[in-house]
Amino acid sequence: MESTKVLKIHDLARGGSGVSRDSEGRVIFVPYTAPGDSVRVQVVEENKRYAEATLLEVLEPSPLRQVPRCPAFTVCGGCQWQHIPYDYQWKIKSQGVLHALQRVQVEPPQAVDWIHADRVWEYRNRVQLRGFQDQLGFFQAGTKSLVPVDRCDLARPEINQNWDAVRKAGVRLSRPYKVELEVTQDGQLTETWNAGHSARGFRQVHDDQNEKLRKWIFDQLPESEVLLDLFGGSGNLSLPLVEKVGRIHCVDLSVPRERAPQLPSHFEFHRSAVLPWLLKQKVVKNLWPNGREIVAPQGNVGVSAILDPPRIGLGSDFLAIAQALEGLGAQVLVSVGCDPDAWSKDISRWVKRGWRLEKVMVIDLFPQTAHVESVGFLTRFV
Ligand SMILES: C[S@@+](CC[C@H](N)C(=O)[O-])C[C@H]1O[C@@H](n2cnc3c(N)ncnc32)[C@H](O)[C@@H]1O
Repeated sequence: MESTKVLKIHDLARGGSGVSRDSEGRVIFVPYTAPGDSVRVQVVEENKRYAEATLLEVLEPSPLRQVPRCPAFTVCGGCQWQHIPYDYQWKIKSQGVLHALQRVQVEPPQAVDWIHADRVWEYRNRVQLRGFQDQLGFFQAGTKSLVPVDRCDLARPEINQNWDAVRKAGVRLSRPYKVELEVTQDGQLTETWNAGHSARGFRQVHDDQNEKLRKWIFDQLPESEVLLDLFGGSGNLSLPLVEKVGRIHCVDLSVPRERAPQLPSHFEFHRSAVLPWLLKQKVVKNLWPNGREIVAPQGNVGVSAILDPPRIGLGSDFLAIAQALEGLGAQVLVSVGCDPDAWSKDISRWVKRGWRLEKVMVIDLFPQTAHVESVGFLTRFV
Protein backbone atom coordinates (compact mmCIF):
# COMPACT_ATOMS: atom_id res chain seq x y z
CA MET A 1 0.00 0.00 0.00
CA GLU A 2 1.35 3.41 -0.97
CA SER A 3 1.86 5.41 2.19
CA THR A 4 0.87 8.95 1.17
CA LYS A 5 -0.71 10.64 -1.84
CA VAL A 6 -1.21 14.20 -3.00
CA LEU A 7 -4.77 14.79 -4.19
CA LYS A 8 -7.12 17.51 -5.36
CA ILE A 9 -10.54 17.35 -3.69
CA HIS A 10 -13.31 17.96 -6.21
CA ASP A 11 -16.53 17.18 -4.38
CA LEU A 12 -18.14 16.71 -0.98
CA ALA A 13 -19.89 13.41 -0.28
CA ARG A 14 -23.17 13.46 1.61
CA GLY A 15 -21.56 11.14 4.17
CA GLY A 16 -19.28 14.06 5.09
CA SER A 17 -15.93 13.37 3.41
CA GLY A 18 -14.26 15.26 0.59
CA VAL A 19 -14.04 13.24 -2.63
CA SER A 20 -11.05 12.81 -4.92
CA ARG A 21 -9.89 10.29 -7.53
CA ASP A 22 -6.52 8.65 -7.79
CA SER A 23 -4.57 8.15 -11.03
CA GLU A 24 -6.54 4.92 -11.72
CA GLY A 25 -9.81 6.82 -11.46
CA ARG A 26 -10.76 5.21 -8.16
CA VAL A 27 -12.74 7.35 -5.71
CA ILE A 28 -10.95 8.34 -2.50
CA PHE A 29 -12.85 9.75 0.46
CA VAL A 30 -10.98 12.14 2.75
CA PRO A 31 -12.72 13.46 5.88
CA TYR A 32 -12.34 17.14 6.89
CA THR A 33 -11.49 18.35 3.38
CA ALA A 34 -13.34 20.77 1.09
CA PRO A 35 -13.86 20.87 -2.68
CA GLY A 36 -10.91 22.82 -4.13
CA ASP A 37 -8.40 21.71 -1.45
CA SER A 38 -5.02 20.26 -2.45
CA VAL A 39 -4.12 17.79 0.26
CA ARG A 40 -1.62 15.17 1.28
CA VAL A 41 -3.33 12.09 2.62
CA GLN A 42 -2.63 8.65 3.97
CA VAL A 43 -4.71 5.84 2.49
CA VAL A 44 -6.02 3.75 5.37
CA GLU A 45 -8.46 1.40 3.68
CA GLU A 46 -8.93 0.39 0.09
CA ASN A 47 -10.95 -1.94 -2.04
CA LYS A 48 -11.59 -2.19 -5.80
CA ARG A 49 -14.13 0.59 -6.02
CA TYR A 50 -12.99 3.15 -3.50
CA ALA A 51 -10.47 3.99 -0.82
CA GLU A 52 -10.54 5.93 2.41
CA ALA A 53 -7.76 8.20 3.52
CA THR A 54 -6.92 10.44 6.44
CA LEU A 55 -5.87 14.02 5.96
CA LEU A 56 -2.20 14.67 6.74
CA GLU A 57 -1.82 18.21 5.46
CA VAL A 58 -3.75 20.83 3.51
CA LEU A 59 -1.23 21.95 0.89
CA GLU A 60 -3.47 24.58 -0.66
CA PRO A 61 -6.77 25.41 0.99
CA SER A 62 -9.97 25.74 -1.01
CA PRO A 63 -11.42 29.28 -1.18
CA LEU A 64 -14.61 27.64 0.05
CA ARG A 65 -13.14 26.92 3.49
CA GLN A 66 -14.08 28.77 6.66
CA VAL A 67 -12.19 28.71 9.94
CA PRO A 68 -13.64 26.02 12.25
CA ARG A 69 -14.84 27.49 15.56
CA CYS A 70 -13.80 24.62 17.78
CA PRO A 71 -10.14 23.84 18.55
CA ALA A 72 -11.05 20.15 18.89
CA PHE A 73 -12.62 19.99 15.41
CA THR A 74 -11.33 16.87 13.56
CA VAL A 75 -10.15 15.39 16.87
CA CYS A 76 -13.42 14.99 18.73
CA GLY A 77 -15.25 13.63 15.68
CA GLY A 78 -18.67 15.04 16.63
CA CYS A 79 -18.76 17.55 13.72
CA GLN A 80 -17.73 16.83 10.15
CA TRP A 81 -18.29 20.20 8.54
CA GLN A 82 -17.20 23.15 10.70
CA HIS A 83 -14.75 24.10 7.90
CA ILE A 84 -17.60 24.31 5.33
CA PRO A 85 -19.91 27.38 5.24
CA TYR A 86 -23.46 26.53 6.26
CA ASP A 87 -25.05 27.34 2.85
CA TYR A 88 -22.80 24.76 1.22
CA GLN A 89 -23.48 22.19 3.97
CA TRP A 90 -27.18 22.62 3.32
CA LYS A 91 -26.76 22.28 -0.45
CA ILE A 92 -24.99 18.93 -0.03
CA LYS A 93 -27.56 17.69 2.47
CA SER A 94 -30.53 18.58 0.28
CA GLN A 95 -28.99 17.09 -2.86
CA GLY A 96 -28.08 14.01 -0.84
CA VAL A 97 -31.65 13.17 0.08
CA LEU A 98 -32.80 13.43 -3.56
CA HIS A 99 -29.86 11.28 -4.60
CA ALA A 100 -30.73 8.65 -1.99
CA LEU A 101 -34.31 8.50 -3.31
CA GLN A 102 -33.11 8.21 -6.90
CA ARG A 103 -30.78 5.37 -5.97
CA VAL A 104 -33.77 3.29 -4.92
CA GLN A 105 -35.72 4.37 -8.05
CA VAL A 106 -38.21 6.56 -6.22
CA GLU A 107 -39.24 9.64 -8.15
CA PRO A 108 -39.26 12.52 -5.66
CA PRO A 109 -42.71 14.11 -5.54
CA GLN A 110 -43.32 17.61 -6.91
CA ALA A 111 -43.88 18.82 -3.40
CA VAL A 112 -40.63 18.93 -1.44
CA ASP A 113 -40.22 21.33 1.47
CA TRP A 114 -36.67 22.34 2.32
CA ILE A 115 -36.17 23.56 5.87
CA HIS A 116 -32.64 24.72 6.62
CA ALA A 117 -31.60 25.80 10.11
CA ASP A 118 -31.40 29.45 11.15
CA ARG A 119 -29.55 28.67 14.36
CA VAL A 120 -26.45 26.81 13.17
CA TRP A 121 -24.30 27.10 16.33
CA GLU A 122 -25.09 26.66 20.03
CA TYR A 123 -28.27 24.73 19.31
CA ARG A 124 -27.83 21.34 21.03
CA ASN A 125 -30.08 21.03 24.06
CA ARG A 126 -28.09 18.09 25.44
CA VAL A 127 -24.57 16.71 25.32
CA GLN A 128 -23.07 13.59 26.77
CA LEU A 129 -19.66 14.27 28.26
CA ARG A 130 -16.95 12.02 29.58
CA GLY A 131 -14.55 12.95 32.32
CA PHE A 132 -11.71 11.79 34.47
CA GLN A 133 -9.85 13.73 37.15
CA ASP A 134 -9.66 17.35 35.97
CA GLN A 135 -10.46 16.57 32.33
CA LEU A 136 -13.92 16.86 30.78
CA GLY A 137 -14.79 16.38 27.12
CA PHE A 138 -15.87 13.82 24.56
CA PHE A 139 -14.67 10.42 23.51
CA GLN A 140 -12.84 10.61 20.19
CA ALA A 141 -15.11 9.11 17.51
CA GLY A 142 -15.04 5.31 17.58
CA THR A 143 -12.62 5.16 20.52
CA LYS A 144 -12.64 5.49 24.27
CA SER A 145 -9.90 8.07 24.40
CA LEU A 146 -10.94 11.28 26.06
CA VAL A 147 -10.62 14.56 24.16
CA PRO A 148 -10.68 17.26 26.84
CA VAL A 149 -12.42 20.50 25.82
CA ASP A 150 -13.68 23.47 27.76
CA ARG A 151 -16.79 24.15 25.68
CA CYS A 152 -18.74 22.82 22.73
CA ASP A 153 -19.78 25.24 20.01
CA LEU A 154 -22.81 23.13 19.16
CA ALA A 155 -24.10 23.13 22.73
CA ARG A 156 -26.59 25.67 24.03
CA PRO A 157 -25.02 28.54 26.05
CA GLU A 158 -26.63 27.24 29.27
CA ILE A 159 -24.47 24.11 28.90
CA ASN A 160 -21.24 25.98 28.23
CA GLN A 161 -21.85 28.35 31.14
CA ASN A 162 -21.87 25.35 33.51
CA TRP A 163 -19.00 23.44 31.94
CA ASP A 164 -16.40 24.38 34.50
CA ALA A 165 -18.69 23.70 37.47
CA VAL A 166 -19.40 20.22 36.11
CA ARG A 167 -15.70 19.59 35.58
CA LYS A 168 -14.97 20.61 39.17
CA ALA A 169 -17.72 18.30 40.44
CA GLY A 170 -16.20 15.46 38.40
CA VAL A 171 -12.76 15.95 39.97
CA ARG A 172 -14.23 14.66 43.25
CA LEU A 173 -15.04 11.28 41.67
CA SER A 174 -12.40 8.58 41.81
CA ARG A 175 -13.28 6.90 38.50
CA PRO A 176 -13.88 7.92 34.87
CA TYR A 177 -17.46 9.12 34.53
CA LYS A 178 -20.18 10.04 32.07
CA VAL A 179 -22.44 13.03 32.55
CA GLU A 180 -25.34 14.16 30.40
CA LEU A 181 -26.13 17.86 30.50
CA GLU A 182 -29.48 18.93 29.21
CA VAL A 183 -31.37 22.19 28.91
CA THR A 184 -35.01 21.46 29.66
CA GLN A 185 -37.90 23.06 27.78
CA ASP A 186 -38.13 25.75 30.46
CA GLY A 187 -34.41 26.61 30.25
CA GLN A 188 -33.18 24.72 33.34
CA LEU A 189 -29.94 22.78 33.18
CA THR A 190 -30.10 19.17 34.38
CA GLU A 191 -27.15 16.86 35.06
CA THR A 192 -27.44 13.06 34.87
CA TRP A 193 -24.37 11.26 36.18
CA ASN A 194 -23.33 7.77 35.09
CA ALA A 195 -26.72 6.69 33.81
CA GLY A 196 -27.19 3.95 31.21
CA HIS A 197 -27.69 4.67 27.54
CA SER A 198 -30.94 6.56 26.87
CA ALA A 199 -31.74 6.50 30.58
CA ARG A 200 -33.79 9.66 30.18
CA GLY A 201 -35.41 8.67 26.89
CA PHE A 202 -35.02 10.28 23.48
CA ARG A 203 -35.29 14.00 22.75
CA GLN A 204 -34.59 15.80 19.46
CA VAL A 205 -31.51 17.97 20.00
CA HIS A 206 -32.44 21.15 18.10
CA ASP A 207 -35.51 22.71 19.68
CA ASP A 208 -36.20 25.35 16.98
CA GLN A 209 -35.95 22.81 14.18
CA ASN A 210 -37.96 20.30 16.15
CA GLU A 211 -40.83 22.80 16.30
CA LYS A 212 -40.74 23.08 12.49
CA LEU A 213 -40.70 19.28 12.18
CA ARG A 214 -43.72 18.99 14.48
CA LYS A 215 -45.59 21.68 12.58
CA TRP A 216 -44.93 20.07 9.20
CA ILE A 217 -46.24 16.73 10.43
CA PHE A 218 -49.26 18.43 12.02
CA ASP A 219 -50.03 20.15 8.72
CA GLN A 220 -49.85 16.94 6.66
CA LEU A 221 -51.81 14.55 8.83
CA PRO A 222 -55.56 14.76 8.38
CA GLU A 223 -58.07 14.22 11.16
CA SER A 224 -58.26 10.54 12.00
CA GLU A 225 -59.87 8.28 14.54
CA VAL A 226 -56.61 6.71 15.68
CA LEU A 227 -53.01 7.85 15.35
CA LEU A 228 -50.20 5.38 16.00
CA ASP A 229 -46.99 7.18 16.97
CA LEU A 230 -44.50 4.34 16.49
CA PHE A 231 -40.96 4.77 17.84
CA GLY A 232 -42.69 7.78 19.36
CA GLY A 233 -40.33 8.65 22.24
CA SER A 234 -42.58 10.59 24.60
CA GLY A 235 -44.97 11.63 21.87
CA ASN A 236 -42.94 14.58 20.58
CA LEU A 237 -44.42 14.29 17.08
CA SER A 238 -47.97 13.23 17.98
CA LEU A 239 -48.76 15.45 20.96
CA PRO A 240 -49.43 18.50 18.75
CA LEU A 241 -52.15 16.42 17.06
CA VAL A 242 -54.25 15.74 20.14
CA GLU A 243 -57.05 17.98 18.90
CA LYS A 244 -57.07 16.38 15.47
CA VAL A 245 -57.34 12.71 16.36
CA GLY A 246 -59.68 10.61 18.44
CA ARG A 247 -57.00 8.50 20.11
CA ILE A 248 -53.20 8.46 20.11
CA HIS A 249 -51.14 5.37 20.88
CA CYS A 250 -47.48 6.21 21.37
CA VAL A 251 -45.19 3.17 21.37
CA ASP A 252 -41.54 3.25 22.38
CA LEU A 253 -39.03 1.01 24.11
CA SER A 254 -37.66 3.74 26.32
CA VAL A 255 -39.12 5.42 29.37
CA PRO A 256 -41.05 8.58 28.59
CA ARG A 257 -39.21 11.79 29.42
CA GLU A 258 -40.82 14.44 31.57
CA ARG A 259 -44.26 14.72 30.08
CA ALA A 260 -46.73 17.50 29.51
CA PRO A 261 -48.42 17.87 32.93
CA GLN A 262 -51.93 17.33 31.67
CA LEU A 263 -51.89 14.64 29.05
CA PRO A 264 -55.31 14.16 27.58
CA SER A 265 -56.92 10.84 28.39
CA HIS A 266 -56.97 9.90 24.70
CA PHE A 267 -53.13 9.90 24.58
CA GLU A 268 -51.77 6.53 25.69
CA PHE A 269 -48.14 5.64 26.11
CA HIS A 270 -47.07 2.00 25.65
CA ARG A 271 -43.58 0.99 26.70
CA SER A 272 -42.89 -1.79 24.19
CA ALA A 273 -41.06 -2.75 21.05
CA VAL A 274 -43.14 -1.66 18.05
CA LEU A 275 -43.56 -4.93 16.19
CA PRO A 276 -44.84 -7.14 19.03
CA TRP A 277 -47.13 -4.34 20.13
CA LEU A 278 -48.60 -4.02 16.64
CA LEU A 279 -49.02 -7.77 16.30
CA LYS A 280 -50.86 -7.86 19.61
CA GLN A 281 -53.28 -5.17 18.45
CA LYS A 282 -54.25 -7.35 15.53
CA VAL A 283 -55.32 -10.07 17.89
CA VAL A 284 -56.97 -8.15 20.69
CA LYS A 285 -58.20 -5.19 18.64
CA ASN A 286 -57.83 -2.97 21.67
CA LEU A 287 -56.63 0.08 19.81
CA TRP A 288 -59.98 1.65 20.19
CA PRO A 289 -61.90 2.03 23.38
CA ASN A 290 -64.69 -0.46 22.81
CA GLY A 291 -62.70 -3.05 20.89
CA ARG A 292 -64.46 -2.38 17.62
CA GLU A 293 -62.61 -2.12 14.36
CA ILE A 294 -62.29 1.29 12.79
CA VAL A 295 -64.75 1.92 10.02
CA ALA A 296 -64.09 5.50 9.10
CA PRO A 297 -66.99 7.49 7.68
CA GLN A 298 -66.74 7.97 3.90
CA GLY A 299 -63.85 10.28 3.07
CA ASN A 300 -62.42 10.26 6.61
CA VAL A 301 -59.25 8.57 7.77
CA GLY A 302 -59.53 5.74 10.27
CA VAL A 303 -55.94 4.99 11.16
CA SER A 304 -52.88 7.13 10.58
CA ALA A 305 -49.32 6.47 11.71
CA ILE A 306 -46.04 8.21 12.35
CA LEU A 307 -42.94 6.01 12.05
CA ASP A 308 -39.71 7.48 13.39
CA PRO A 309 -37.35 4.54 13.87
CA PRO A 310 -33.66 4.73 14.81
CA ARG A 311 -30.99 5.31 12.13
CA ILE A 312 -31.30 1.88 10.50
CA GLY A 313 -34.92 2.47 9.55
CA LEU A 314 -37.45 -0.35 9.78
CA GLY A 315 -34.84 -2.82 8.53
CA SER A 316 -35.83 -6.47 8.64
CA ASP A 317 -39.06 -5.62 10.51
CA PHE A 318 -40.35 -3.64 7.55
CA LEU A 319 -42.57 -6.33 6.04
CA ALA A 320 -44.15 -7.40 9.32
CA ILE A 321 -44.74 -3.78 10.39
CA ALA A 322 -46.20 -2.86 6.99
CA GLN A 323 -48.52 -5.88 6.98
CA ALA A 324 -49.64 -5.19 10.54
CA LEU A 325 -50.35 -1.53 9.79
CA GLU A 326 -52.23 -2.36 6.61
CA GLY A 327 -54.12 -5.08 8.49
CA LEU A 328 -55.22 -2.43 10.99
CA GLY A 329 -56.46 -0.29 8.11
CA ALA A 330 -53.78 2.43 8.12
CA GLN A 331 -54.38 4.86 5.26
CA VAL A 332 -51.89 7.64 5.83
CA LEU A 333 -48.46 7.62 7.33
CA VAL A 334 -45.50 9.84 7.98
CA SER A 335 -42.09 8.21 7.71
CA VAL A 336 -39.21 10.02 9.45
CA GLY A 337 -35.55 9.05 9.11
CA CYS A 338 -32.15 10.44 10.03
CA ASP A 339 -30.22 8.34 7.51
CA PRO A 340 -31.25 9.23 3.93
CA ASP A 341 -30.31 5.76 2.60
CA ALA A 342 -32.20 3.77 5.23
CA TRP A 343 -35.17 6.15 4.99
CA SER A 344 -35.22 6.00 1.17
CA LYS A 345 -35.12 2.23 1.29
CA ASP A 346 -38.19 2.20 3.55
CA ILE A 347 -39.93 4.73 1.28
CA SER A 348 -39.24 2.56 -1.77
CA ARG A 349 -40.71 -0.45 0.02
CA TRP A 350 -43.87 1.47 0.90
CA VAL A 351 -44.18 2.63 -2.71
CA LYS A 352 -43.76 -0.93 -4.00
CA ARG A 353 -46.63 -1.96 -1.72
CA GLY A 354 -48.91 0.59 -3.38
CA TRP A 355 -48.46 3.57 -1.05
CA ARG A 356 -48.16 6.95 -2.71
CA LEU A 357 -45.38 9.34 -1.72
CA GLU A 358 -47.34 12.60 -1.67
CA LYS A 359 -44.85 14.96 -0.11
CA VAL A 360 -41.31 15.08 1.23
CA MET A 361 -39.67 17.39 3.74
CA VAL A 362 -35.94 17.69 4.28
CA ILE A 363 -34.97 19.43 7.49
CA ASP A 364 -31.63 20.19 9.07
CA LEU A 365 -31.64 19.16 12.70
CA PHE A 366 -27.84 18.88 12.92
CA PRO A 367 -25.87 21.86 11.47
CA GLN A 368 -22.06 21.42 11.27
CA THR A 369 -22.54 17.67 10.84
CA ALA A 370 -23.37 15.68 7.71
CA HIS A 371 -26.60 14.36 9.25
CA VAL A 372 -29.97 15.35 7.85
CA GLU A 373 -33.56 14.38 8.63
CA SER A 374 -35.96 13.31 5.87
CA VAL A 375 -39.71 13.01 6.20
CA GLY A 376 -42.21 11.48 3.78
CA PHE A 377 -45.99 11.73 3.80
CA LEU A 378 -47.60 8.66 2.23
CA THR A 379 -51.18 7.66 1.54
CA ARG A 380 -52.98 4.48 0.64
CA PHE A 381 -56.66 4.88 0.00
CA VAL A 382 -58.25 1.54 -0.77
C1 LIG B 1 -35.40 8.72 16.34
S1 LIG B 1 -36.07 8.41 17.91
C2 LIG B 1 -37.67 9.10 17.67
C3 LIG B 1 -38.39 9.56 18.91
C4 LIG B 1 -39.60 10.46 18.74
N1 LIG B 1 -40.33 10.25 17.52
C5 LIG B 1 -39.20 11.92 18.89
O1 LIG B 1 -39.34 12.69 17.93
O2 LIG B 1 -38.79 12.32 19.99
C6 LIG B 1 -36.30 6.69 17.82
C7 LIG B 1 -36.99 6.09 19.03
O3 LIG B 1 -37.14 4.68 18.77
C8 LIG B 1 -37.09 4.00 20.01
N2 LIG B 1 -36.88 2.59 19.67
C9 LIG B 1 -35.78 1.99 19.16
N3 LIG B 1 -36.04 0.72 18.82
C10 LIG B 1 -37.34 0.50 19.12
C11 LIG B 1 -38.22 -0.61 18.97
N4 LIG B 1 -37.83 -1.76 18.45
N5 LIG B 1 -39.50 -0.47 19.36
C12 LIG B 1 -39.92 0.69 19.91
N6 LIG B 1 -39.15 1.79 20.05
C13 LIG B 1 -37.88 1.69 19.66
C14 LIG B 1 -36.01 4.73 20.79
O4 LIG B 1 -36.21 4.55 22.19
C15 LIG B 1 -36.24 6.19 20.35
O5 LIG B 1 -37.07 6.87 21.27
